[in-house]
Amino acid sequence: MDLFDKITSSMGGPIGQHQKWSHGYFSYPKLEGEIAPHMLFNGKEHLVWSLNNYLGLANHPEVREADAKAAADYGMAYPMGARMMSGNSIHHEELENGLAEFVGKESAFLLNYGYQGMVSIIDALVDRNDVIVYDAESHACIIDGVRLHMGKRFVYQHNDLDSCEKQLERATRLAGQTGGGILLITEGVFGMSGAQGKLKEIIDLKKKFDFRLLVDDAHGFGTMGPTGAGTHEEQDCIDGVDVYFGTFAKSMAGIGGFVAADREIVDYLRYNMRSQIFAKALPMPMVIGLKKRFEMLKSMPELREKLWLITNTLQAGLKERGFDIGVTNTMVTPVYLKGDLYEATALTRDLRETWGIFCSIVVYPVIPKGLILLRLIPTATHSLEDVQRTLDAYSAMGEKLKAGHYREAAPVA
Ligand SMILES: Cc1ncc(COP(=O)(O)O)c(C=O)c1O
Repeated sequence: MDLFDKITSSMGGPIGQHQKWSHGYFSYPKLEGEIAPHMLFNGKEHLVWSLNNYLGLANHPEVREADAKAAADYGMAYPMGARMMSGNSIHHEELENGLAEFVGKESAFLLNYGYQGMVSIIDALVDRNDVIVYDAESHACIIDGVRLHMGKRFVYQHNDLDSCEKQLERATRLAGQTGGGILLITEGVFGMSGAQGKLKEIIDLKKKFDFRLLVDDAHGFGTMGPTGAGTHEEQDCIDGVDVYFGTFAKSMAGIGGFVAADREIVDYLRYNMRSQIFAKALPMPMVIGLKKRFEMLKSMPELREKLWLITNTLQAGLKERGFDIGVTNTMVTPVYLKGDLYEATALTRDLRETWGIFCSIVVYPVIPKGLILLRLIPTATHSLEDVQRTLDAYSAMGEKLKAGHYREAAPVA
């Protein structure tokens, strides 16, 4: 059999099988123009709700200036090589020191891409005798890290403390036999549902069980907590989080991420995370640009205030109009609708073509069959008029969906 036969017979995989009609419109769309709430899609103005530019820093003039100056000063190639070999710099270390202090940990280390970093954090923290306990709705980077684990892993039902406790009991029994430890992994803010991980309650379980807690706070860093330090600050449980992970791809509107923990742990990770040791360091213009973003994130609480104004107005408006926004208690705003794939594509197309509203659509297998999830990501750069325009469009779309209008419509060619 030819290796490629299964590629042909799988018809492109669970998501890729739809690409003939979805590519370029529902998947891989091209948003053009300056990064902002209003961008061009297919040459037409759209109100965009699908960028994790939470604080609106991506296109801030001061950020653009800092990025451009750093690129002119250093070029994009500098520093050459991995941090450990030839890619270290004072700027990388200064950013690390600032981040550690901000998130309430002794030390921090930068990661090239959050995804790879998380995979390697997990890989470095456990050996075959250790046991991993993790949330069922974990992001793919956690799942991939867990996949590398040679020992046992137990998954608990999403955000369900009883289930979590049961899995901790099993893990404790097993670790007792192997002589290993337990790593518990959750997210600070779940990116699909907007639910906060129950960090405080999980930390309470440390009274009964011996484990270490790793939190993926990709969405919470910069948005949650009184200073924006993260979900652990929001829930007032900074010390109970043993290893904190954040990405720069969301509120920091850049690339990369970081891990923060006690000094001894970060010193270990720095020399043992394979995706970081064997890969080129973050480029200097990005690091200097990130320092600028970080300074603004800390010194401009008004950005977070605006983000929450937009979030609260949008979520209240959706609820008033009878939409189901699930259990979100963060800025991530899911709208759950009942319908099949065809209705999902038809109504998303209608939102775009009739009202110029661009939001991300999530369907089976990411969520159960028969459900449609339209995910809205508010940012500090959206306006109250944007919210109103969206609510009006959603009301009209919701009525059409109920009336069965989208049932007959075929996916866009
Ligand atoms: C929860 C979570 N973890 C990790 C990542 C990966 O971060 P990055 O984009 O920096 O690789 C993401 C990004 O989508 C995320 O949502």
